[in-house]
Amino acid sequence: MPGNGGVHVRSTLYTTGLIYIACQIAFVSFLSSYYNCGFSNVTFWLLDRLEENDYMREKIDLVRDWVDAAQETTKEKFSRKTRGSVEENSAPITADISSPGLSRSVFTPEQLLLFDGTRASRPVYLAILGRVYDVDKGKKHYGKGGGYSFFAGKDGSRAFVSGDFTPNGLIDDLSGLGHDDLLGIRDWVSFYEKDYTLIGVVTGRYYDAQGNPTDELKDVLARMEVAAQWRAQKAAENEVFPPCNSEWKKESGGRMWCSTKSGGIQRDWVGVPRKYTDPTAKGTRCACVKNFGPGLSVHAAQGANRGDLDHPFLSEYEDCSPTSMSCKILDWN
Ligand code: HEM
Repeated sequence: MPGNGGVHVRSTLYTTGLIYIACQIAFVSFLSSYYNCGFSNVTFWLLDRLEENDYMREKIDLVRDWVDAAQETTKEKFSRKTRGSVEENSAPITADISSPGLSRSVFTPEQLLLFDGTRASRPVYLAILGRVYDVDKGKKHYGKGGGYSFFAGKDGSRAFVSGDFTPNGLIDDLSGLGHDDLLGIRDWVSFYEKDYTLIGVVTGRYYDAQGNPTDELKDVLARMEVAAQWRAQKAAENEVFPPCNSEWKKESGGRMWCSTKSGGIQRDWVGVPRKYTDPTAKGTRCACVKNFGPGLSVHAAQGANRGDLDHPFLSEYEDCSPTSMSCKILDWN
């Protein structure tokens, strides 16, 4: 049939075309590997050359912003999935769990161990910061064979932030933890408060035999408050001095640059990179500094149209134009 012949000729042409393209690709890859200039090397080289031009650099940074935004959205979705409904900036925890009209149990660690999910006749319980939650509805996680069964029947508070799920790591001692980890524990308590039922406390480190909070619990809660204030202060500081974007490439070294979303701070100004001496942490970091109009910090000069450029904690990067939005960094410290 005529139609069949046409199809055959066209498919032969397609095949020849495809073979031709494949040969071209093979030839280009052979050349690039022979001369040791692979695709990524060529891309980096091209980007470096383009970034030497201010206009092109702005466009490249714009594309980088889009990619960053897409990655952030994916990360956010993923972290929600992995941490259930754990809240950021969760509310303070009250040490006293008594509530009018509700009876709470006081477990010894041995009694709590009976609820570790290995007995079909008993529900699954776990403790965090001495607070015992009925997690039976999450049996698929905490029950026998579940991915988080090691949390059942005990208080393994520290492992919630250390990720050390060995017997040595599954402990209730929170000494020596930094601000972020303490707030991590607070987030997890907030998660259990929301998703499960608080049924009592376990005696030992955080509650005494009568179920009253110990001094150690009060101390941990006070440290959490300090950590929360630290985080709030840091967030306020980041609004004024958002962290820079940064990258390091073997070929061209380090680079810091500013964009309207750098440091995760969405804003309507870009700013210029400056070395910022962080008063709360030791050392310096790169900050994007508003360089026009009124400043955002208390040190900003009124009516000077220089943003925060004159803040005393800032210094310029060497070998970088003070007006540039991007600085090559020779000394990474
Ligand atoms: C310190 C590290 C981690 C701790 C302490 C932790 C703890 C937990 C806990 C307690 C649950 C059960 C939540 C519930 O009761 O619903 C859970 C669920 C889950 N975790 Fe993790 N996790 C950690 C790291 C990770 C990582 C790194 C991944 C993935 C790579 C992951 C993936 C998941 C998933 C997929 C779920 C199930 C979520 C659902 O079904 O709703 N976790 N995690």
